[in-house]
Amino acid sequence: MNEPITHAAPTIPPLGEVPAEMDAWVIRKERLGEPLTSFQYEKMKTPEPGPGEALVLVMAAGVNYNGIWAGLGKPVSILDVTKKDFHIAGSDASGIVWKVGPGVTRYKVGDEVVLHCNVTCGQCPACNGFDPMACEDQKIWGYETPYGSFAQFCLVQSQQLLKKPKQLSWEVAASYGLVYFTAYRMLVDRARVRPGELVLIWGASGGLGIFGVQITKLLGATAIGIVSSKAKGQLAKDAGCDHILDRNDFPGLAFTPNETPERLKARMDATKKMGKAIWDCVGEKKGPDVVFEHVGQETFPTSVFLAGRMSRIVICGATTGFNLTFDVRHLWMRQKSIIGSHFANAEQCQRANELVHQGKIKPVLTETFEFGRIPEAHERMYRNQHMGTIACLVSSPKPGLSTLDEARAAAGSAGG
Ligand SMILES: NC(=O)c1ccc[n+]([C@@H]2O[C@H](COP(=O)([O-])OP(=O)(O)OC[C@H]3O[C@@H](n4cnc5c(N)ncnc54)[C@H](OP(=O)(O)O)[C@@H]3O)[C@@H](O)[C@H]2O)c1
Repeated sequence: MNEPITHAAPTIPPLGEVPAEMDAWVIRKERLGEPLTSFQYEKMKTPEPGPGEALVLVMAAGVNYNGIWAGLGKPVSILDVTKKDFHIAGSDASGIVWKVGPGVTRYKVGDEVVLHCNVTCGQCPACNGFDPMACEDQKIWGYETPYGSFAQFCLVQSQQLLKKPKQLSWEVAASYGLVYFTAYRMLVDRARVRPGELVLIWGASGGLGIFGVQITKLLGATAIGIVSSKAKGQLAKDAGCDHILDRNDFPGLAFTPNETPERLKARMDATKKMGKAIWDCVGEKKGPDVVFEHVGQETFPTSVFLAGRMSRIVICGATTGFNLTFDVRHLWMRQKSIIGSHFANAEQCQRANELVHQGKIKPVLTETFEFGRIPEAHERMYRNQHMGTIACLVSSPKPGLSTLDEARAAAGSAGG
């Protein structure tokens, strides 16, 4: 376990001045485990931006599940992937461009930005005409790359930079990218949700789900959200969800491996009960046109069973387990499709971010942690004790600030 947390927010240097060392929360192989163990404070050498890269002063960082996976070392040890002896997690940030490498022309020092987390080679045919998500070198920044956002500075490809919505505080701006852009690609570009369709959303108050609800509504479709408490249901409703189901009302629903015939029967009874509840919500015997999946092993057979004829099940994650078991007869007889989806390309992120600028999609930040409590923020998500998204202050000294000048004034620091 960590010692008591005493690390103050980093100080903000004069614009463009890069200190040799930076404050960071660092994961290392010898301490993989739950977040309070795996995230440890260290002083690290500040990285230097290479060609096409930018160094960003992190004002706030968003918490995502991939920081938990990185700390656990599951399903793979990310340090084996990056071949480094350290990992700074964090795939979401808001901040200021502090230094640019050779060849960067679209952004300059001092620009206020948010980031998307897709890293690609930029040179292959997929990057230059098809879809950068098909690039053989595609990686999630801050998960499959070592210099993520839980540090005073982060290192990004300049194509990851997006304009920060001015109306948002640093912590709100840092909170939405990864989950929102992922949900956007899932529903807009992969499942291609159409007006009037019915979309079933697991974890409708969680990071992905709360944006899944808003995107569904913006596309003119109907959202049915599944949650596990009244408070979570209320949050999803506030985000525009048309109907809410509490999964606690369907005991026995979760799939567990090595099912006995009795367990199978109980699970199918609970599944059919949920199907009936969906019919009651929409007022007709109709299954969802799209199921928004990321829970995985425990829910996937239910998703395949409940999805309507010719429907699409779009999946981007598997919180409860990666080995999915389902009765394939339900898939082929009713001609359902399973669609894999992974984050989003720069153009999709740009399109999605525009909707935040316009106020049509609203980030749902429920909790903000200080820099010294970054491990605790991850622990909260690991225990499924959060709702919406959570963010951590890094260089921003307090919540509610939205410019560099405000942050400097609040920190009482000098600098240019
Ligand atoms: N491929 C990608 O690009 C990508 C991008 C983002 C996230 N992901 C993955 O997607 C998953 C979700 O991410 P997130 O940020 O949305 O996480 P999150 O904020 O923790 O939300 C997940 C939601 O799942 C629900 N849930 C948890 N256990 C469940 C269970 N046993 N049965 C049914 N529902 C359950 C919870 O809602 P209730 O308790 O209210 O039901 C929770 O709110 C993670 O595994 C993450 O790694 C993948």
